[in-house]
Amino acid sequence: MAKDTVTVIDNRTGQQLELPIKDGTINALDLRKLKTGPEDFGLMTYDPAYMNTAACRSSITYIDGDKGILRYRGYPIEELAERKSFAEVAYLLLHGELPAADQLAQWKGQVTHHTMVHENVKKFIDGFQYDAHPMGILQTTVAALSTFYPDAKNIGDPECRKLQILRLIGKVPTLSAYAYRHRMGLPYVPPDNDLSYTGNFLNLLFKMAEPKYVPNPVLEKALDILFILHADHEQNCSTTAMRGIGSSHVDPYSALAGATAALWGPLHGGANEAVLRMLTEIKTIANVPGFIEKVKKGEGRLMGFGHRIYKNYDPRAKILKEMADKVFAVQGTNPLLDIAIELERIALHDEYFVQRKLYPNVDFYSGIIYQAMKFPVDMFPVLFAIPRTVGWLAQWEEMLTDQEQKIARPRQIYTGHWERHLPEYDAAAAGARA
Ligand SMILES: CC(C)(COP(=O)(O)OP(=O)(O)OC[C@H]1O[C@@H](n2cnc3c(N)ncnc32)[C@H](O)[C@@H]1OP(=O)(O)O)[C@@H](O)C(=O)NCCC(=O)NCCS
Repeated sequence: MAKDTVTVIDNRTGQQLELPIKDGTINALDLRKLKTGPEDFGLMTYDPAYMNTAACRSSITYIDGDKGILRYRGYPIEELAERKSFAEVAYLLLHGELPAADQLAQWKGQVTHHTMVHENVKKFIDGFQYDAHPMGILQTTVAALSTFYPDAKNIGDPECRKLQILRLIGKVPTLSAYAYRHRMGLPYVPPDNDLSYTGNFLNLLFKMAEPKYVPNPVLEKALDILFILHADHEQNCSTTAMRGIGSSHVDPYSALAGATAALWGPLHGGANEAVLRMLTEIKTIANVPGFIEKVKKGEGRLMGFGHRIYKNYDPRAKILKEMADKVFAVQGTNPLLDIAIELERIALHDEYFVQRKLYPNVDFYSGIIYQAMKFPVDMFPVLFAIPRTVGWLAQWEEMLTDQEQKIARPRQIYTGHWERHLPEYDAAAAGARA
């Protein structure tokens, strides 16, 4: 029977190394045994952007990019989106199992208990320019929370970690909504504990003078599904930031602020905002073929298309495309949808996109739905950050309790000057002095 090993031969020395293959990987550290001499550090792997490196073991989210599969804790995303609430999915991601009825009630109560923010946080938000991007406000206020909860640095204490997780899941929607209200010049309203997680978020955003805000059930449900779809996505850029920063054992607010920053980039969670700007710029269906040609010439990218992992239709995009109609029935249609559908139609049949396996990703349709729900474009990445907070925290907890993890510290191939000296520096004299 064939052995589960791979043999590496160093042609410089003739040395042979038999490396065990475990879980479809070899241990990169084993390669260090290949040395040309005692001074040789040993063989390393070179993998910019971690294209082929598994940096952790994880039991949270599974993706098969070729087949277009996404599962949280083993459950297909389609089933969760159709049958479960965001509160249940958040519990699942963090605890590994879906909650029983009493566990769910307790979980909702615990999160609700932490939705309020200190009055000083509002003053902090007030200090921002009137047109400050809400993602910038969210990122910095999350970081500022570390100064409100200095106990959070006790990351070795499971109870303390649990408390910070509840605080963050409770407060991130409040901070996000206040960032929006600051920008709109509206007063901050308190959370409403009678409402669901997404219902309360809508209340925090849109409540005006009415004594009780009643969320539209279709929009509340749509947002709940959007939150489920965005809750986790294994080792993406922002999650890697969360794990990397968290691996220094800093408090979770500081780590989550870093993850939020990573999410903001247009190649990651900022893509939904970029999609909307792109569709607005294209303006009409007649301009779509011209735009596609420009993309093919390398003059810009088709935002919301392509993915490092999915080389098939992103399952989340499929759910969103179907959901768009339900939201439009309440809010009126978004003319940008027609441009998006035409872009998709042409791209899915065009050799350039087919060859590179570029399909719509989650951001292609989410922005159109958010806009129909009357969110300003710069709130889109914030709407991504709220549910992803759960995924970041689940991954953070997993990283901290994984005995194999250490502070993240990749290696480099040094390409700079070798040793050289300042012209006025007398190296020989310095050597004599030493
Ligand atoms: C997501 C993304 C960053 C993944 O990048 P990646 O895995 O590093 O893939 P690459 O950038 O190496 O792209 C591979 C090829 O496809 C092309 N490509 C990738 N995404 C493209 C897009 N959206 N539009 C046009 N061409 C694209 C690249 O130009 C490259 O072509 P080449 O081989 O001729 O040079 C990339 O697809 C992208 O920028 N998409 C748009 C932004 C977006 O929607 N991000 C949200 C992700 S959820």
